Amino acid sequence: MEERGNQHKHEQEEEEEIVCLDASFFVDDNYQLTKFTFGSQDIQLFCLHSASTDFDLTGQLVWPGAMLLNEYLSKNVNLLQGCTAIELGSGVGITGILCSRFCHKVVMTDHNEEVIKILKKNIELHSCPENITSISHGLVAEKLEWGNTDQINEILQKHPGGFDFILGADICFQQSSIPMLFDSVKQLLQAREDRKCKFILAYISRAKTMDSMILIEASKLQMQMKEVPGTRCTVKNLEGVIFVVTLE
Ligand SMILES: C[S@@+](CC[C@H](N)C(=O)[O-])C[C@H]1O[C@@H](n2cnc3c(N)ncnc32)[C@H](O)[C@@H]1O
Repeated sequence: MEERGNQHKHEQEEEEEIVCLDASFFVDDNYQLTKFTFGSQDIQLFCLHSASTDFDLTGQLVWPGAMLLNEYLSKNVNLLQGCTAIELGSGVGITGILCSRFCHKVVMTDHNEEVIKILKKNIELHSCPENITSISHGLVAEKLEWGNTDQINEILQKHPGGFDFILGADICFQQSSIPMLFDSVKQLLQAREDRKCKFILAYISRAKTMDSMILIEASKLQMQMKEVPGTRCTVKNLEGVIFVVTLE
């Protein structure tokens, strides 16, 4: 009798422990409103200031690649004027938000639900005139897992004819996702019949294997990858560069 009582108590304790270990328990969503400046452009948005322990939650903060891409784009806003763009791995959305000030339409995408939540919150913030200096128009968030053709087709159905630009900041950091990423880039490049779509990639070098892998992957899929002269620089102690990728 006493044994059964103990077992019941033990089971109850286990159950309580499981309740404590709900997924939300691990997710840090203590986002801080933070101001960034790129040339004449100030952007305020919600982000974390330090990385989560979960590799998949990289999108909760602003990465060096976004700093590099936004610096480059803010110096070349004429490129974006009146154009359409889709961003891959948008994270908190700092690049898409900057582009939406000049582009006609910007679709920001990510695969992580938690990241999409903060991305949508930042879109809302930038649609609200009281909070910020510049309102963004034509800015939307969509779920897109690299390599998921159904999701790409759904996006292309909503935006027939494709985009002028595909943008990517700091999205080459995990070797296993590179073939899928380049596969999606190729599908989006091909969606423009006039072949005028360009993929602008802000690449941050963290491993020599990745440096060569992206070049090999692009060439395997018959895409040309050209370094933009004058963009190679140091960002937060890492080497970064802007590439422009087109169909061969
Ligand atoms: C290092 S963060 C860069 C975020 C943002 N572009 C920046 O530079 O601040 C990589 C982003 O890519 C997203 N990502 C990673 N793997 C992905 C995949 N397989 N499909 C779609 N998005 C992915 C992550 O959720 C994250 O938002």
